[in-house]
Amino acid sequence: MKLRIATAVVASISMLAGIPALAQDGATLFKTKCAMCHGDQGQGKPAMNAPKLVGTTKSVVDVLTKGGEAKAPHIKPMSTVTADQAAALAAYVKTLK
Ligand code: HEC
Repeated sequence: MKLRIATAVVASISMLAGIPALAQDGATLFKTKCAMCHGDQGQGKPAMNAPKLVGTTKSVVDVLTKGGEAKAPHIKPMSTVTADQAAALAAYVKTLK
């Protein structure tokens, strides 16, 4: 019950401030845009040639918004990810263990 109230308070503060609920969005975005290559928990998928993201030393925001990696799909910025989404995803990736 306490947790529910806390969640509701956080949600309404974020709404009032116009700040998206970062961690939550990040999880959803990750599932829909990244997990197919990097795995549900960011553990990587050898079959997709995709490295694990747990403990990555690279800037997730830069990889998504600037590209610059050797291999697709990160040679160029990802057109399917906005700057806001990249920030939410970066925050989410930091929570992966
Ligand atoms: C089509 C498969 C695919 C998708 C979708 C994808 N990635 Fe990747 N990702 C890769 C591959 C392959 C590499 C390795 C690129 C290289 O080494 O040049 C990579 C590398 C990365 C790296 C660098 C990791 C490191 O330590 O070297 C980050 C960060 C990353 N991806 C984040 C993401 C995020 C966040 C998403 C979701 C928006 C995402 N990727 C979606 C395939 C994918």
